[in-house]
Amino acid sequence: MTTHPFKVSIALFGATGDLSRRKLLPSIFHLFQEGSLKDDFALIAVGRRDITDDDFREIARNAISENGKLETLEGLDLFLTHVHYVRLSITESDTYSSLKNKFEDIERTLDTGGNRLFYLAMPPQYFTDITDNLRISGITETEGSKKLIIEKPFGKDYDSAYKLNEEISKSFQEHEIYRIDHYLGKEMVQNIEVIRFSNSLFEPLWNNHYISNVQITSSESLGVLDRAEYYERSGAVRDMFQNHMLQVVSLLGMEPPVSLNSNDIREEKIKVLKSLRKVEAEDVRKYFVRGQYDEGTADGEYVKSYREEENVSENSNTPTFIAARLFIDNFRWAGVPFYVRTGKRMKNKETKIVVEFKEVPMNLYYQNESDDRLAKNLLVIRIQPNESITLHLNVKDYAGEQDTKEIKLSYSVDPTDLARTVDAYENLIFDCLDGDATNFTHYEELMNAWSFVDPVNAVWENDLASFPNYRSGSNGPVKSSLLLSKDGFKWWDV
Ligand code: BG6
Repeated sequence: MTTHPFKVSIALFGATGDLSRRKLLPSIFHLFQEGSLKDDFALIAVGRRDITDDDFREIARNAISENGKLETLEGLDLFLTHVHYVRLSITESDTYSSLKNKFEDIERTLDTGGNRLFYLAMPPQYFTDITDNLRISGITETEGSKKLIIEKPFGKDYDSAYKLNEEISKSFQEHEIYRIDHYLGKEMVQNIEVIRFSNSLFEPLWNNHYISNVQITSSESLGVLDRAEYYERSGAVRDMFQNHMLQVVSLLGMEPPVSLNSNDIREEKIKVLKSLRKVEAEDVRKYFVRGQYDEGTADGEYVKSYREEENVSENSNTPTFIAARLFIDNFRWAGVPFYVRTGKRMKNKETKIVVEFKEVPMNLYYQNESDDRLAKNLLVIRIQPNESITLHLNVKDYAGEQDTKEIKLSYSVDPTDLARTVDAYENLIFDCLDGDATNFTHYEELMNAWSFVDPVNAVWENDLASFPNYRSGSNGPVKSSLLLSKDGFKWWDV
């Protein structure tokens, strides 16, 4: 672990973009406010626009001031003195000399140790231009460390991800590449390991002897907003399922790692991704459900269908929803379905995990009734909002109306604990500065995830769907419920 405050110059590509303004600038500022970044730190905003340092500082000031999660703006003026702006043309290597000079100027005045972090908050078509030009212009040659944070999507399938990685590897080695999956920065996603491996209660039950199925839902009430150009090419499979959802599956499914060391954890996660049962075209048709939102309501207001959104083709075949039944084919999980669903313009914005335990071997209660009123034991991990963990149990019904009643043992995360960071991005930027790659996607995780989803995209891109097939504000297509009811289960609305 590096000691902080971290000594570093951060070059932020895409510094005036939406992600930078909403998440990255406030996160970096908060790291400065709480002392992880201090005197020997500089932020170099990189952009195409012809603006001055002061112009950019104003943009940064506004972005940071507008972020609702910062308790105070104390230290903002001082922070902005560490912020610089460099203009260059991403695709022209000779313009990178301005960035090189800026790094060198900073390194002459601040003791950054020559540590350089490059954050690519840019559309993916520019990734390799940037990494090539950083190398060609000599910026990657430094006496300190060099690191690259790269946003998703990392490729659009196995082959393109492989090629992209080959290109980037010319300038950065695997241990210098931090592929962001912001779900891995969420407190409750990180809590999955803690819940599993710090309690003796769950681990003995965490297998196919005691668990009947696992459900992961990440629903959004928002539509595609102004990102249709990207989303039309990506859809729910590439946007959410291949990365965030499969990461959560691997954290739930992994074996206890030998240690909390990054390599040990990743090794176990990779094994889960490798054990996912490969799907053939026929399986895609049976066990994967796609959807696209129709008009409907969101927060009580009328909203239009996906196909009517700006920059969306009127015959778009892009799924905005996916539900799937997965199997992890290993000793622990053989026979336990993992149901995963994610979609836009659904009823609620929520991400949760429901682990459903098997029934008791013999039900001593309600023996004469056709209706089984013994509640199912559930472990509900609510990732967002209202971060909490709840265990559903049966106890004696003191009112005496029936033999048992269901109770919920619940722990809600203290909001002040969550307020410690502005966003998942803050955790991840801190980890990267600290050289901790645990919560980033390793190349092998990435490639196994692509090889799992490629057949799904292949089938869906060739078969035209009859879209739209779910109303905005609903729980997605009806078929997604059938996926579970065929197996005798239901999506838990808890
Ligand atoms: C992003 C996707 O990775 O995750 C977006 O590109 C999606 O389409 C977002 O809206 C959801 O993240 P969160 O943190 O709001 O659940």
